[in-house]
Amino acid sequence: MDFSFRQFLFATVVAFTIAAPTVADDMTDEAIAERIKPVGSLHLEGEAPIVEVTVAPRNGDAVYNTFCASCHTSGVMGAPKKDDAGDWSARIAQGKDVLADHAINGFNAMPAKGACIDCSDEEIVAAINYMIAGL
Ligand code: HEC
Repeated sequence: MDFSFRQFLFATVVAFTIAAPTVADDMTDEAIAERIKPVGSLHLEGEAPIVEVTVAPRNGDAVYNTFCASCHTSGVMGAPKKDDAGDWSARIAQGKDVLADHAINGFNAMPAKGACIDCSDEEIVAAINYMIAGL
């Protein structure tokens, strides 16, 4: 059997003519709105939408315990141990700017920012201060 293009066109038009009213039934604004509405919406009464997220800086304690303690508690690879005066005195003698620079940018086996990629410089300095606060 060989359909001509004309027959194909005719069949297509017939198909749409029959199908159109059925489809049109569901094309009212309400029906469309119903179909495309979000699956769930949450609105807390009296609460303003959150437009800005401000992240408070983590304190030295939190940064140290999350990112530095793994090396600086036990002295892994020669890391100066927390509150160990013997480990820290010569380092502190370099000046706090040098300590901060080494901690922020990395120094030998000391990874930059202790691998806390989203830590600010201030958070790293706070962690250093926490590490040597007990000296
Ligand atoms: C993977 C292990 C490791 C982690 C994690 C780590 N450190 Fe270190 N850190 C070291 C090592 C090793 C050294 C000693 C490097 C040297 O003197 O050659 C060091 C040295 C330092 C020094 C002394 C630098 C100097 O100039 O003497 C500071 C300050 C420091 N780390 C701060 C931090 C802070 C703050 C963190 C967490 C945010 C941190 N470290 C996380 C291994 C680590």
